Amino acid sequence: MLSKNIKETAGIARIFLNKILKGKIKTRATVVGLSGNLGAGKTAFTKAVAKSLGIRQKVNSPTFVIIKKYSLKSKLHKFFFHIDVYRLKNEKELLHLGWNEIIGNKEHLVFIEWPERVRRAMPPHARMISIIVGKKGFRNIRLK
Ligand SMILES: Nc1ncnc2c1ncn2[C@@H]1O[C@H](COP(=O)(O)OP(=O)(O)OP(=O)(O)O)[C@@H](O)[C@H]1O
Ligand SMILES: [Mg+2]
Repeated sequence: MLSKNIKETAGIARIFLNKILKGKIKTRATVVGLSGNLGAGKTAFTKAVAKSLGIRQKVNSPTFVIIKKYSLKSKLHKFFFHIDVYRLKNEKELLHLGWNEIIGNKEHLVFIEWPERVRRAMPPHARMISIIVGKKGFRNIRLK
């Protein structure tokens, strides 16, 4: 889907979130990878998802803290994780941050920026969203 601005990104985030939650299997965590170049809008997209989930706290880029956890008031998931592995060297570093516990809990909804950096740690059932910046700064946002 094409987004011309942040507001449209919010609408797309809502649509994609619905699609992802609809196909959810309740026996495992819901994991979503966000790919795209520096500044493509991965954090902006995740903020829109958080807002749509009813998270009122400010959602900042987790680049420096790597992992941020938010409580949810939803029947489907108890916690929302926003992870940015840009600064990690490899999968091993992610495992040291408790990755297996995070993705091993079906009450977790996990959005992770730069998933290609930890490709081997991504579960096979993870969904993927890619953001490509095109002409005039429009964003092409895809869900795979
Ligand atoms: N759909 C959009 N339309 C216009 N501007 C956007 C859109 N999405 C994001 N932006 C803007 O692009 C800039 C970078 O966005 P953001 O920080 O979300 O990118 P990112 O992919 O998370 O970057 P990083 O790789 O550094 O984590 C921000 O100023 C944001 O407001
Ligand atoms: Mg970011």
